[in-house]
Amino acid sequence: QSAAALRVCQLAPVVPVLVIDDLAHAAPLARALVAGGLPALEVTLRTPVALDAIRAMADIEGGTVGAGTLLTPADVKAAKKAGATFGVSPGATDSLLKACEDEGLPLLPGAVTASEIMALLERGYTVQKFFPAEQSGGAAFLKSIGSPIPQVKFCPTGGISLKNAPDYLSLKNILCVGGSWVAPKEAMAAGDWATITRLAAEARALR
Ligand code: 3PG
Repeated sequence: QSAAALRVCQLAPVVPVLVIDDLAHAAPLARALVAGGLPALEVTLRTPVALDAIRAMADIEGGTVGAGTLLTPADVKAAKKAGATFGVSPGATDSLLKACEDEGLPLLPGAVTASEIMALLERGYTVQKFFPAEQSGGAAFLKSIGSPIPQVKFCPTGGISLKNAPDYLSLKNILCVGGSWVAPKEAMAAGDWATITRLAAEARALR
C-alpha cells in the first residue's frame, strides 16, 4: 500500500492540488505542471468534470495523476476507472480504506491526531496526508509527532504556500507538501500556462 504512495510523494517537493472547472483546461494544465517539474498531480473530485479531467490527464507524458477528495467507496471505484494511479483523502474510514485495498489504488489517507495516525499505522499506512495542515498545528505539530512516531511520513496540505512550504520540507518526517497555489484559478481561466509552469518550477526548486 504505502510503497506506491511513497514513490508518488518522492517525485517532487510539491503535489499540486487541482480544482478543475473546465475540462478543456485539464491537458494543458497537466503539461504546464509537468514541464515545470511537478509530475505528481492530484485532481480533486470536487467539480462535475473531475473524472473526465483525470481521463484527459492520464496520458500526459511524464505525469502521475491521482484523485483527491476521495470520500466514499464509489469515489474510489470511479477514480480508478478514470485512470487515477493514486488516491488522496482528507480523512480515512474503514470502508474507504477497504475500497482502496480491494481496487489496488494506493492511498494517502488523512490524519490529524496521534490516535488517527496510529490507527492508520496499525493498518500499514506509513505515508499519510496531514490535512488541514496549517489549521491543525502546522509544521510545529508534525515536528512534535515525529518524536514518538518517526516511522510515519507525511504529505501536509491545506494553507501551504511557497512561503511556508520550507518550514514543512525541512522536517525529517515530511516527504512533500500539497497545495493549490501552483495552479491559480485566474491563470487557468486565462489559459496562462506559462505562469503555471513558472510557479511549478519555483515549487520544484524548494528542494
Ligand atoms: C485541499 O484539499 O483543498 C488542499 O489541501 C489544498 O489546500 P490549499 O488550497 O490551502 O492549498
